[in-house]
Amino acid sequence: MVELGVNIDHVATVRQARRTVEPDPVAAAVLAELGGADSITVHLREDRRHIQDRDVRVLAETIRTKMNFELSCAQEIVQIALSVRPYQATLVPEKRQEVTTEGGLDLRPKSPELLQAIASLKDSGILVSLFIDPDQEQVRIAKELGAHAVELHTGQYAEARGVEQDHQLKRLEHASRCVIDMGLKLHAGHGLTYQNVRPIAAIASMRELNIGHSIISRAVLVGIKQAVEEMKKLLVVAG
Ligand code: PXP
Repeated sequence: MVELGVNIDHVATVRQARRTVEPDPVAAAVLAELGGADSITVHLREDRRHIQDRDVRVLAETIRTKMNFELSCAQEIVQIALSVRPYQATLVPEKRQEVTTEGGLDLRPKSPELLQAIASLKDSGILVSLFIDPDQEQVRIAKELGAHAVELHTGQYAEARGVEQDHQLKRLEHASRCVIDMGLKLHAGHGLTYQNVRPIAAIASMRELNIGHSIISRAVLVGIKQAVEEMKKLLVVAG
């Protein structure tokens, strides 16, 4: 069965909007695990817009499943990964102005930073996954670079509609076959929702899906009634 990696970055996004202490992504990770998450994903961005260094350290001590640490090839962040030693590191491209990760890594230039990041993570016994577009050439290079896994970017599939979505699904299915033929572990993620996840989860040999925004969005809505009721009770008791 495909495993669910729950990305809790946006719990930290809400906290950082006020630069306060709640909601705590560590508490969210514990609850996600109680709900059945197979792993917890966090992206420590260079601009620290959501997850902070302390979160990563505390999560590493708290998570009972597996930590999937998303990171760019920036040396500073790779060093943090090496000290935290997550179960898995997923290398992603990062641009300062982007709203979220746009597109997969382009592995073709075989940049020295990327090669160095893969080598040091692997030397520390951390599984390395590369976030790439569903493209045969990128899969081939991921294998050549020594990755253990690739995470196929499902963003274009998620944004497409109708015939275009069928086309994007076929691209993902084709790339997935290449991943398996190359002997790599198959992961996917980005933009997956309660409405569009099923065809992706049904792809043969899919091991892991990483889902964040949709789960955190639903958590806000399914939790709001109880949260208001609890505040209302305090007002009634006080008044
Ligand atoms: N996988 C990767 C590599 C990502 O960068 C992200 C977004 O942080 C996700 C999965 C989760 O995407 P979403 O929040 O759209 O579910």
